[in-house]
Amino acid sequence: RDPEGRRVFDLRASPGEHRFRAGRPTPTWGINGPYLAPTLRAARGETVVIRFRNDLPETTTLHWHGMHLPARMDGGPHQPVEPGTTWSPTWTVNQPAATLWYHPHPHGRTAVHVYRGLSGLFILDEPGARGLPSQYGVDDIPVIVRDLNLTEHNELDERDREQGGVGIVGDLVTVNGTPAPYLPVTTQRVRLRLLNGSNSRIYRFGFGSGRTFTVVGTDGGLLAAPYETGRVQLSPGERAEIVVALRPGERDALRSFPPETGLNPWDRRWTGGDDTLDVLELRAARRLAPSPPLPARLAEAPRLVTDPATPPVRRFELSGYTINGRAMDMKRIDFAVAQGSTEVWEVTAIDDAPHNFHVHDVQFQLVSVGGAPPPPELRGWKDTVHTPPNVPVRIALRFRGEPDPATPYMFHCHILNHEDQGLMGQYVVT
Ligand code: C2O
Ligand code: CU
Repeated sequence: RDPEGRRVFDLRASPGEHRFRAGRPTPTWGINGPYLAPTLRAARGETVVIRFRNDLPETTTLHWHGMHLPARMDGGPHQPVEPGTTWSPTWTVNQPAATLWYHPHPHGRTAVHVYRGLSGLFILDEPGARGLPSQYGVDDIPVIVRDLNLTEHNELDERDREQGGVGIVGDLVTVNGTPAPYLPVTTQRVRLRLLNGSNSRIYRFGFGSGRTFTVVGTDGGLLAAPYETGRVQLSPGERAEIVVALRPGERDALRSFPPETGLNPWDRRWTGGDDTLDVLELRAARRLAPSPPLPARLAEAPRLVTDPATPPVRRFELSGYTINGRAMDMKRIDFAVAQGSTEVWEVTAIDDAPHNFHVHDVQFQLVSVGGAPPPPELRGWKDTVHTPPNVPVRIALRFRGEPDPATPYMFHCHILNHEDQGLMGQYVVT
């Protein structure tokens, strides 16, 4: 903290080396280290100051995914940071406790910058925590899931999958940069902050034993009430906070099962949709420190739109590398929204490819999925939502941003190859 009580974060991106497996270390990129980026943390009401120095050989940006903040602080493609320079955004946190993240967003180069290792969590806190495990690294664990491929010389293989159009799909799954990891568990309950930080893979998390777990949070905050389930699916960019209870001495494996994508068998196979992957083994100690019981209520849950039949004011059709038939153009603002307004958008993927939809600056709520109410694990705050083929997904958004007709926020598919190829648009708040 600086003398004015602001949270100051010094971040520096540079090339490094990281050991994924025996043999030579792999050339990577990282922030304040050789690979990935530190977990940042701030509380509602605090002012954040970032000093981001780019010591990479390329222009990049740093975007605060899920954060409500002025457009010129957003770190999208309009805030480039040239090599050897420092960018210093600042904003005041004004949103609920949540697991957000940050990563580069240079137009056309996001996939490779993220793949080389630039991403980290940004945890937001809110005073008055409600009985969830919250000792970072003890019973509150960041779980950044990323897949990659290594060449025979242990270099990152940056080649796209030959088919499927989603770019890089890796066969080596890592958690926080570690392949085949395990987590020593020392408490009765452990909270996992799951981030799908992959370029294109969709994960469907569950446990090898078939045990259930409790979903307590989604992209933008805690659910109204805990929800018990055996599976939670995350497309790229999405987060879920889950709480898992283990017995003393027990072991179990967090796995990804074949996701429900609605794709045809051909596209499913090429995009990794048939894969079952081991992600993280949990190993409970013989003695576990007691954890408080989970609270029955977690957060206030006011609905932005109460009538599910509310007609959308905008429609977005995702297809190939376009939205409504148009590819991203840095010079084209697609539309303006009025500050303080609430809108319903309908997003439909109309081709047989995996897509999702991410909107900058806002946390939205799902109104309906294919005309039906959203499932319980999707009823909280979201900034990214999976859009299966030909299933209209309606979302409600409230625009709280400060008016800035000159600086756009992005909306796009978070399959990074799709985003880079043009499945992205821009809006401004006026
Ligand atoms: Cu996580 Cu526009 O990005
Ligand atoms: Cu897409």
